[in-house]
Amino acid sequence: MITVNDNKVFILNTKSSSYVMSLVANNYLVHEGWFSRIDSWSGNCGPSKTDRALLYASTPDLDKRNLSLDMAPIEFSTSGLSDMRYSAIEIDLPDGTTTLDLRYKTHRIYKGKKSIPSLPATYVLNDDEADTIEIDLVDTKYDITVTLFYTVWEKRDVICRHTKVHNGENTEICIKKLMSTSVDFASAEYSMLQLSGAWARERNAYFRHLVPGTQAIESLRGTSSHQQNPFVALVNDGATEDFGEVFGFNFVYSGNFIARADVDFCNNTRFLMGINPYNFGWNLSTGEDFYSPEVVMVYSNKGLGDMSRTFHDLYRERLCRGKYQFKERPIVINNWEATYFDFDSEKLLALANKAKECGIELFVLDDGWFINRKDDKRALGDWIVDEKKLTGGLKKISEDINKVGLKFGLWVEPEMVSPESNLFKEHSDWALQIEGREPGLARTQLVLDLSRQDVQNWIFNTLKGVFSSGLISYVKWDFNRCLADVSSAKLPAKQQKEVLHRYVLGLYSILERITAEFPDILFESCASGGARFDPGMMYYMPQTWTSDNTDAFSRALIQAGTGLVYPSSVMSCHVSAVPNHQTGRITSLKQRACTAMAGTFGYELDLTKLCQQELSEIKEQTDFYKSIRHLVQYGDVYRLISPWNRNVETEKICSWQVVSKDKNKALVTVVWLYAEAFAPKRILRLKGLDEKAFYKDLFTGEIYSAQELMNAGLVITGDSKYQGALQFLFEKQN
Ligand code: DGJ
Repeated sequence: MITVNDNKVFILNTKSSSYVMSLVANNYLVHEGWFSRIDSWSGNCGPSKTDRALLYASTPDLDKRNLSLDMAPIEFSTSGLSDMRYSAIEIDLPDGTTTLDLRYKTHRIYKGKKSIPSLPATYVLNDDEADTIEIDLVDTKYDITVTLFYTVWEKRDVICRHTKVHNGENTEICIKKLMSTSVDFASAEYSMLQLSGAWARERNAYFRHLVPGTQAIESLRGTSSHQQNPFVALVNDGATEDFGEVFGFNFVYSGNFIARADVDFCNNTRFLMGINPYNFGWNLSTGEDFYSPEVVMVYSNKGLGDMSRTFHDLYRERLCRGKYQFKERPIVINNWEATYFDFDSEKLLALANKAKECGIELFVLDDGWFINRKDDKRALGDWIVDEKKLTGGLKKISEDINKVGLKFGLWVEPEMVSPESNLFKEHSDWALQIEGREPGLARTQLVLDLSRQDVQNWIFNTLKGVFSSGLISYVKWDFNRCLADVSSAKLPAKQQKEVLHRYVLGLYSILERITAEFPDILFESCASGGARFDPGMMYYMPQTWTSDNTDAFSRALIQAGTGLVYPSSVMSCHVSAVPNHQTGRITSLKQRACTAMAGTFGYELDLTKLCQQELSEIKEQTDFYKSIRHLVQYGDVYRLISPWNRNVETEKICSWQVVSKDKNKALVTVVWLYAEAFAPKRILRLKGLDEKAFYKDLFTGEIYSAQELMNAGLVITGDSKYQGALQFLFEKQN
């Protein structure tokens, strides 16, 4: 609900939060706070707008000295005036400066939520789900309007923000920086939670307490990246998994981003998130608009767990789309780690037959199926099936796999071109590269220039041909390097700083067209593991490959971090061989499967090399997963013991629980990351059950009251007989 009173106090109320803004001297829009819900605002609380102003800044109203721009929590700050902090916007103006002076002009409130032109975003199905306010700020010198969009979700603790710039001048301007959100907190008593890592070590959770100065995460890689995920939470001192105030921010964008928290000399924290200003510049002609991508902001006064569940529900229900949005996802076998490039139809069918015996439902043919692709050094761009490996092409192999009783899926990496390819011979100008410089290769490949319409059309038409040439039910869309040598042969010098963003827009346009053309295909996003695990991609593809690291230990950390924001239905998890191909570690088949059952499930190993006992164990695992997959993919996740909990140092345990929305079922998983002999016991207090009910553990037949499970807890002691993992499946008793 959004209310604006006569004094122009804006109160944006969600289920349990309020986000308050007001107008102060000279129509500056300031941020009064974001906190647990209030229904009225007297103005007697709220942050100081003048504290020590005389020392440090000029004020626009000198006589009254009632506003210091350097102190006030400016809702959308500019640079060049007396606010000396990092600003939310910078535009190259006709007078050669970047100084904007933005004042409130007007606002509009309406039911529902508009889409953002050319960009993915959360959506409503019914206008009653959310209200939106657009606030226009105009510059005092130039006819430039900055519109702040806030969508307030009635039944969720979510506010979605983005920004628009309109150029009303009769000359071109250039946007150098435009943040999607900016929130000034009147305190610095927060830890910043971020998800950081590397290839095969994505999205491990890190906390750091804010200190004066800048703490930032960013991507300069052209993608959201393995290294930093476009997510930050500010966690109030004292907040935990189940208690306290948490502010979560997630950027619905798949390119360069920045998220920074700047603590000033008076303990104010300015939080900003948006497209990274590095190598960015957008020329805006007379009458044109530029839209920033969306930031999803989640408030919780019930700790990190509640924040995560709010993100999960929103993303499952109002970000993901298409036929598979709410469907149970198939169990897959992927041939990558089973064969790498060394396969033919016979080998694939042998693998498929074993997979069928094991209860697997879909076969994914990974990299290496097209001409000359004998290794990862060549042939990207030449999307013609290699009939030496696959006689009869995709039609035959997909039909044969279907005859085995599995659906058929295919890997593609359409944004790339290998220098050794026919495509590159014909269209060398289609790759991103700077004229007069030798482009750098990564995995011996270059990136196609998706800012070009002709390249976008070629990719769409080529994929359309490939996807129509067989019985293809699933597509894994890979992307295996970051963007460098960023320059487009199609654009003049002054537009080269638009290329990074135009690339992302080009990608989104292709994805929109191809997913609309093939609504029955289940698309899974992948980027050298999880380098594009972001909500922008989730808008088009309801699943994402979490990481190339499928080692149970590493995955427990990666998945726990990923699950802080992203729901299990998007998190693709596989069981692979031991010793693990990335870490060399040996873990039990049971531990690998219990870990992979935290998301959409599959296998990625050569089943033809396993003994009968292992195959039977896999059959039991797939049978079990089928019985719990709706619960896992669409239930509420509760973290019981997380890898980042301090008390797991003596014996690293990770434990999570999923409860069905109707609270009838709950799956509890415990994974020992490394075991100690005679290890201390643990108490696992379950969460989220129906307090008055009784639950039966379907494995042991034992009956417990929910209160016992949640208040007294289960006593867990490590034992080698568990093989590193333990599961409980509880069912509510009538
Ligand atoms: C990177 C992906 O993450 C892997 O799963 C696999 O598809 C390879 N690329 C294939 O080249």
